[in-house]
Parts: sequence; structure tokens; C-alpha cells
Amino acid sequence: TEEEKVQELVRQMTLDEKIGQMQQVSDGFYPTEEALKQAIRDGKVGSVLNVVGPERVGELQRIALQESKHGIPLLFGRDVIHGYRTIFPIPLGMASSWEPEAAEKSMRIAAVEASSMGINWTFAPMMDITWDPRWGRIAESCGEDPYLTSLFAAAMVKGFQGNVDDPTAIAACAKHYVGYGMSEAGRDYNTTYIPEPLLRNVHLRPFKAAQDAGVLTFMSAFNDLNGVPTSGNEFTLKQILRDEWKYDGMVVSDWGSIEEMINHGFAADKRQAAEIAVKAGVDMEMATTCYVENLKSLIEEGVVSEQLIDECVGNILRAKMKLGLFTKPYDQMVSSDTILAASHLAEAREMARKSMVLLKNKNNTLPISKSVQRLAVIGPLADAPRDQLGTWVFDGNEDDSTTPRAAIGQMLGNRMNYSPGLEYSRDKSTKGFADALAAAKTSDAILFFAGEEAILSGEANARGIINLPGIQTQLITELKKTGKPLVLVVMAGRPLAIGAELEMADAVLYAWHPGTMAGPSITDLLFGDFSPSGKLPVTFVKGAGQIPFYYYRKNTGRPATEDDFIYIDDIPRNSKQLSLGFKSMHLDYGISPLLPFGYGLTYTEFQYSNLVLSSGEMTKDGSITVSADVKNVGNFEAEEIVQLYVHDKVGTLTRPIKELKGFDKINLKPGDVRKVSFQLKPEDLQFFNGKAYVIEPGDFDVWIGPNSAEGLQGAFVLK
Ligand code: IFM
Repeated sequence: TEEEKVQELVRQMTLDEKIGQMQQVSDGFYPTEEALKQAIRDGKVGSVLNVVGPERVGELQRIALQESKHGIPLLFGRDVIHGYRTIFPIPLGMASSWEPEAAEKSMRIAAVEASSMGINWTFAPMMDITWDPRWGRIAESCGEDPYLTSLFAAAMVKGFQGNVDDPTAIAACAKHYVGYGMSEAGRDYNTTYIPEPLLRNVHLRPFKAAQDAGVLTFMSAFNDLNGVPTSGNEFTLKQILRDEWKYDGMVVSDWGSIEEMINHGFAADKRQAAEIAVKAGVDMEMATTCYVENLKSLIEEGVVSEQLIDECVGNILRAKMKLGLFTKPYDQMVSSDTILAASHLAEAREMARKSMVLLKNKNNTLPISKSVQRLAVIGPLADAPRDQLGTWVFDGNEDDSTTPRAAIGQMLGNRMNYSPGLEYSRDKSTKGFADALAAAKTSDAILFFAGEEAILSGEANARGIINLPGIQTQLITELKKTGKPLVLVVMAGRPLAIGAELEMADAVLYAWHPGTMAGPSITDLLFGDFSPSGKLPVTFVKGAGQIPFYYYRKNTGRPATEDDFIYIDDIPRNSKQLSLGFKSMHLDYGISPLLPFGYGLTYTEFQYSNLVLSSGEMTKDGSITVSADVKNVGNFEAEEIVQLYVHDKVGTLTRPIKELKGFDKINLKPGDVRKVSFQLKPEDLQFFNGKAYVIEPGDFDVWIGPNSAEGLQGAFVLK
């Protein structure tokens, strides 16, 4: 069996060779290509990071298989996050589709393109849950919800790995294990404090889903979790991952995260860092050299047992074996002709279309008629081929991008009046304002492409202020004064605090960073060939001071209602009151976010009615069906994402006010009605209460609705 082969190989290997397998080197680690080749021949390398290209990879793999003593193949790793050359929307955008199957297809394409360049391992998907839009890596996340993120994590794993016998399969990596998305104040690499119930009920769930989907590798993270760095955390890596979940794949560290335990103040030096990481269960070290420099002497001195090393090497070889690297011909990569294939671009266009969320559409400003006489196209993101690709695109190329300016220009010809007004998102010069205003005044409507440059989100790119950068709002304010219909398209890597702009605009389409096909996909929606269908996978806050604000927050002992709210400017001067109602709220932001999780409009309207529960009681081994009728009462065919939420009213641990338990994306023609049904079982109501996973009898509220803040409400009792 494969496992016997793994164990046999481990038995044959010397200690040095085993430690060599545990080292991942980045391109440039060795001073010359020849030195890298020799290291591979000598069994000093288990994986290579960021070496790309069929010839180079093919030759290194040939050396590993044919010229190293044990013929152990290499893993060639690369960050293929939301596409290789054909760039799909950022993951937060893909999650807005609420269509995991679409993300699976997209990541399959990413794997096809990446594998043609020799890559056989991607460091994706990222499944960190975050409540903090300041954190730059929110762009790479699937948002705030553990249920939605779990579905996307599993789907993306399946997409990357496909059928492992296929030459286009690449290993996926569940990252960053775990809790990294809670980095304090959104500052990257930061401290996290996550009590065990929150860890288990929220942050661990997508990782379990990825494991269940067969993910071949995990990556430990940069953050310290409750005082213990996650790259040296026995509780998460050993107790949970190995002992509870019985995961037998491999764990790689993040870049330098073993050595960084010195900075964390958890290890005195590289030797102690190696000891801590290997004992916790990190099998392979990325980029740094704590393991190669220290494991041998740690074993010789009896600090670390060789059996532990055997387990690590076994995990690495098992992953390589499962990916078929021992048997697949290394020199038969799929032709790189597939890169940017027409079918890939079509898929990227469709995925981008599905990822965009219509936030406002006053008086049906959208869609715009294709016979519009003159349309002003303004704003720093209208023609930003690099920025529309978003963060983490090593191999994406801006020359492949079709921008909104290009796509709209192609459709309207000289009926498009392009004048950017601002050159880039942070531009603070008003020198382009006059021209942009002139373009607006001579047009029938204004399309303003606002947002953030790609560099403002992603790893290490945290922002404390999450408004539109630069003076975009000033230009939008000037444009508003023309009285022309004003449509905003926002391209960004995070949910921005766009309350003022939302107020001013007649329509707002949130496009995230849509990727290579931004232009055509936006055009598809703006001109009505398709109706928008995305819904927010993350709450939009009114301002950074409202963070964190997530839909499954707790009720508190003093929940506020709209009636309790008193706005800061309405407090009488010299008020003698001691307090303003003693309720949990902000005097300036109020009690609600800007937009709730799950929110999204389209060109038609849907009416929800007739909530029916098959029974008001759920027995311990039974289930109930909850259904509602959804009717398209408008004039456009469109998709609706129908959402199911529950609230466990009393628990041995306080429970969130709502939890997403299901959703269904349906397509309805005008006038059509569909009964949407969800089955709920006791297992769906399980949670970790601090001591154990429990399913507690009691009262539950249930909603079917269009987002987390609205819906038809019912109730049932779990017996
Ligand atoms: O995969 C990434 C990770 O997400 C952040 N640090 C570097 C790794 C490899 O590039």
C-alpha cells in the first residue's frame, strides 16, 4: 500500500535526509542554480518555493527523482490565490457569489494554468475568519461567517486538487492555522486572543471542512494565540489537528514563522524555536533554517526523539504520495497553451459577475440603456489594469486585463466620455476635477469608478482608516452637484466605510477587485445583460470605530433597539441626565452597521411570504423542514440568495443572536414564485460550550430572509 511505501522510505532514510525533507527553500536560497541542484541531489530539500516554469521545474524534479538517493519528488509551492494568469475576483469577492461550486470551477482553472508551469502545490485557500476590515488580508478571506467560509474552503480545495490522478491536480493548503484573522486592530501578524468556544465554534470550522474535503496540507500561522504562537502551538496542532481530527497530511510553517517565535518572546533562539515547532507538529519549515541547523543535535542530545522526525517525514511523504508525485511523469505537464484560454476568461467573467453586490439602486437608475446618448466614465479605478486584479497575484499580468474603460468604450464608442479626474485612489490633486466635471455635465449619467488600489489590501497592508482613500469623496461630491444620475462602482479589497458616498449616489455596485475580466463583467451588469446577484459575506461598518461588528454577535444584557437610540448631536446641551438609556450602542454610529451580512439587491424585487415549519418540535433524532415562498415581483429575471438563520435562545454558553444555517440561490423570472425549503437537524444546532460539543434542548427562533437583518420569523423547540 501507499502507507507501507511511505514507512519503508522513512526506514531507509538517514537522519540528515529526513531533516532535508523538512526544509522548504525559496528561489534564491542557494546562491546558484547548480548549488540548488546539488542540494536536491544530496537530499537536502523537501520542497521549493517560487520556482516556476516547466523547464526549470522539470529539470529540478528530474534530479530529485533520478539523481537523489531515494528518488523522492519535490513539492513546488506558489501562492496561487485567486488565479494564476487568468485572475478571478479576490476570495472575498468569490464568497459574495454564495456559490461555492463557482469558486471550485475557478480554482480548477487556476490549477490547470499553474500546473502547466510546474507548480504542484498552492498556498491556498485562506480560510481565516475575520471581523476586521482594517486587516488587509480580509481580501483573501471569505468573510466573517464560519458556515459560508467552510463551504468555500472545501470547494476551493476540491477545485485545486481536482482528481489527484490528473496531471493538473495541485495540492491545496488550508491556511493559516489558526485564528490569524483576529489579529489585533487588524495589524498584520499580531496577537490574537480567542477563547476556546470561539475558536471551536468559529475559527476552526473551515479548517475541519477543508480536512473533510481531503486537503493535503495545512499551514501554521504567524499570530500568537492566547500567548502561544500558532507555529508552536501543541493545543491546536497536536491535540486538535492530529489527536481529535486524526489529520495525517502535512503541516508547513508560514514564511519564517518558526524563527519568529524568537521575536514573539516564546523561544530564546533558533534551536529552541525548532524544538517547540517540531514538538507541536510542524512538519516542514518554510524559508528559514531552524530545523536544518538544529534538529540533528536536538535528537543526538535526546531533546527531540527521532520518532517525532519520522512522523513529520511520514506526513510529508504521504502528501507527496497522495498527490501522485512518485508515479506521475514529471515531464508531461499540460501545455501552457491553456493559460488565458478563452474558456478561462469566460469563466473569470462569469465569476466576477456573480461576485458583485448591488448596494443601492434608487429609482432603477441601473441598468443603463445601451442606447444612452453620452455616458461619463470617471474615477481612478476606471482604467487601472493592475489594481483591478487585487492583491496576491504573483503571476497575474496587467496587460491581460480588460478595464471598465476599455469594455465600456468598446460598447459605446465615442458616446463614452472618459475623464478620470484622479489618477489613482490616493491621488490628492484636484487638477483633473475640471475636466471630469465638464465630461459629467455633457453626459446623461455618470459612472464613477471608486475604490482602493490593490496595494492597499493584502498581506501587511492594514489600514486604520477604511474610507475611500485620497479625495475621491470630494470629487464625487462635486459630481453630485451636476444633478446627473450618479452610479458608483467600487473596486476594493475590503468593505470600505462608504456611508457618505452611498447616500450621495443613485446606485452603487460593489465590485471588490474583480480580476482580469473586470471590465466586461461590470459592463454585463451595468447595461442589464445580467442582473446582479451577489450578497455581502461580511458586514459593512459605518466607520472604523464600529469594528468589530459582525452579524452573529451576542445580545448583551442591555441590547438597544432603534427606539433607544439618541444621536450625539441631539443630546440637549447641559443635559443633566446621567445616561441616555443605559443601552449598548454608539451615540454616533447608532445600533446598526452600514449594511448587514447577507445584504444585496438586484434589478428586480423579491417578496418573501408564507413561512412554514413542518413541526414546531424537533426531536433528538428527527428533523424539521422550514420553508417560505419567494416571488419575483419586479420586471427582471434575477437570482436571489435565500438565507436561513437560527437563534438558540438559551444556552449553557450565551449564543449568537443569529447564525446562518443554510442558503439557496434561486433564479426567478418576473412573476415566478418558488417554495424554498431547508431541512434542519439537531446536529446543525450543535456548539462547543467550553467543555464539550453539545446539542441543547430548548427554544429556537428561525428566519428565512434576504439577509441577516430581515426575514420571516418562526420558532421551534428542540426536545
Ligand atoms: O502563503 C504565504 C502566506 O500566506 C504568507 N506568508 C508567505 C507565504 C508564502 O508566500
